[in-house]
Amino acid sequence: MAEVDARADRRSEGIVINDDWPGYSLDLFSYPAHYSGDLDCVIVPHGVIMDRTERLARNIMDDLGDHDIVVLCVLKGGYQFCADLVERIKALSRNSNHTIPMRVHFIRLRSYLNDQSTEDLHILGAEDLSFLAGKNVLIVEGIVGTGKTMETLLEHVKAFKPKMIKVAGLLVKRVQHSLASVPDYVGFEIPNRFVVGYALDYNEYFRDLNHICIISESGKKKYKV
Ligand code: IMP
Repeated sequence: MAEVDARADRRSEGIVINDDWPGYSLDLFSYPAHYSGDLDCVIVPHGVIMDRTERLARNIMDDLGDHDIVVLCVLKGGYQFCADLVERIKALSRNSNHTIPMRVHFIRLRSYLNDQSTEDLHILGAEDLSFLAGKNVLIVEGIVGTGKTMETLLEHVKAFKPKMIKVAGLLVKRVQHSLASVPDYVGFEIPNRFVVGYALDYNEYFRDLNHICIISESGKKKYKV
């Protein structure tokens, strides 16, 4: 999130989905029958996610083209976005004079129970990131809520002295008094509601849903732990 230039600033909020946006009726799309009754609406259809990701890949390419980067995928919620983003960066690299040599590494975080952020943030699988020293790092996260998770992760990564850190977040919630600065690359700015799908879960459910949806109250009850 360091070194945000003016161009990145202008586009940093991504596509803004307002609080009064009712979403798309679930009847307009296909989704797994086992989630029938568990969702209120589709807030971002899968195709729109893919189109926005393609553009984010181009922005990243324009900014970082010809630099080696280490992609740090934040599991588990960021895996689908990371896979699709990396795929698109690879396609651009194949088809232009600019190219981004990429390494991909995974880091696992857990801070949510049901739909509540907990103080208890675990960084798992982050044993030794010393190979990040002097590298250009692109952190790829599915969703930024309060920003606490990202702040903690950034502090952790900075300690390994990378040359540069950029952050790509597919979704950023409009949270009042959010601690964090905005990621450099944002897919969508969304209302402060609990969303699932496209690898984002509620107690490990809904990762197998392609669209980003608002979970229903009955869905929350059904999968509560
Ligand atoms: P933050 O610390 O509040 O920014 O929360 C970030 C983390 O919480 C993300 O890495 C997600 O794992 C999870 N999270 C936050 N909001 C949601 C949501 O609406 N759906 C699913 N996971 C979420």
